Amino acid sequence: MKLWGGRFRKNENKLMEEFNKSFHYDKVLYKKDIQGSIAHVYMQVKCNLLTKEEGIKITDALMEINDDIENGKLIMDGNYEDIHSFIEINLIQKIGEVGKKLHTARSRNDQVATDMRMYAKQKAEGILVLTIKLKDTIKKVAYKNPVIMPGYTHLQRAQVITFKHHIMAYYSMLDRDEKRLKNALEILDECPLGCGALAGTTHDIDRNITCEKLGFKKVVENYIDGVSDRDYLLELMSNFSIIMMHLSRLSEELILWSSQEFDFIEIDDLYTTGSSIMPQKKNPDGAELIRGKTGRVYGNLMGLFTTMKGLPLAYNKDMQEDKEGFFDSVVTLEMSLDIMEKMIDTLKVKEEKMKKAVKSGFLNATEVADYLVKNKVPFRDAHKIVGQIVIYCEDNKKSIEELSIKELKEFSSVFKEDIYEFINYENILNKGIKKNLK
Ligand code: ARG
Repeated sequence: MKLWGGRFRKNENKLMEEFNKSFHYDKVLYKKDIQGSIAHVYMQVKCNLLTKEEGIKITDALMEINDDIENGKLIMDGNYEDIHSFIEINLIQKIGEVGKKLHTARSRNDQVATDMRMYAKQKAEGILVLTIKLKDTIKKVAYKNPVIMPGYTHLQRAQVITFKHHIMAYYSMLDRDEKRLKNALEILDECPLGCGALAGTTHDIDRNITCEKLGFKKVVENYIDGVSDRDYLLELMSNFSIIMMHLSRLSEELILWSSQEFDFIEIDDLYTTGSSIMPQKKNPDGAELIRGKTGRVYGNLMGLFTTMKGLPLAYNKDMQEDKEGFFDSVVTLEMSLDIMEKMIDTLKVKEEKMKKAVKSGFLNATEVADYLVKNKVPFRDAHKIVGQIVIYCEDNKKSIEELSIKELKEFSSVFKEDIYEFINYENILNKGIKKNLK
């Protein structure tokens, strides 16, 4: 079941045959491979490499093979080297001699490059849709919850913010992810079919015909580059890694916030699991798995980078290794985006708990300094004064707003009754550009 063999005196070693195979994973490319072949046949007819009748015969058979795969009549199994061998051998078995003409003016090198680009394009477009859906859900949940909460730096309570502004940060990240994906899609939109093994073909083919039929924007310029470029996969996997990094940071926050220590949110039962021993447990496994799977998406990227490093032009069999990692990253990212979207959509925000948390941790200390500055105290001096107030509060187990005006005046004579209004948490968010936090 091979597409080659004429020049060999011996049969391939069994282990070598197994080692060489990619069929068990590249079978997912079947639809793209058939589409590519149908476009190739169309071009062959146009360029007089096949008669019209031959073209129709091959095209019909290819379409039947596609249907048979999809309705389960043709099982994608057996001793085939790869998906290209599977389709072509089945075609020849089906229609005989004429099927052997399909591969005229084509190599598996430009064929697989075309299949993979089409597949990558489709998958990246799907991931784009999922990214936009997650963005929309984040926005919806954010606008429903303009609740005040503590904002953190160094995971220490820092200043008052809103839950809305906090999760809208992820909207901004995903917005850039969307742009990056669109940009990558734009760059990869070139058709390598017709580059041949590396040097084109002596046949008078028209690459623009297949390019247009397959929905690419243009043909690749350089034949050698066309069969040996995998940087579009690296670019997509880089983008996937960045998205996973964003999802992983969000997951981490969901995990923290749903702990009893924070208790700011509740993740819906649908996306949590229990413990086999501790009956009370409700674990945020959905978020943890996204955080964990980020590692494998990074790993797949590094794997392909390492495979490609130092490869001489043009095609080398090393490049067959571009597939499993990419396929795995696609599935992992699709599921992660989907689970995250559902988790966010069903999230319960514990408004009272967040509000309560704002009250401790001196989240209005910066605003006390701002108050002093508005009353002509230089900021550095104001900073120092408030630092001393904080020590006093810690020693006396009070918050700043609980101090009397008399106590405050011990630190600076400029304090007046209006300080309490100024450092009220709800009021803080009405001042200056903080209005945007709401
Ligand atoms: N299965 C191969 C791959 O994925 C197809 C290309 C084979 N080309 C070759 N010259 N042996 O890379």
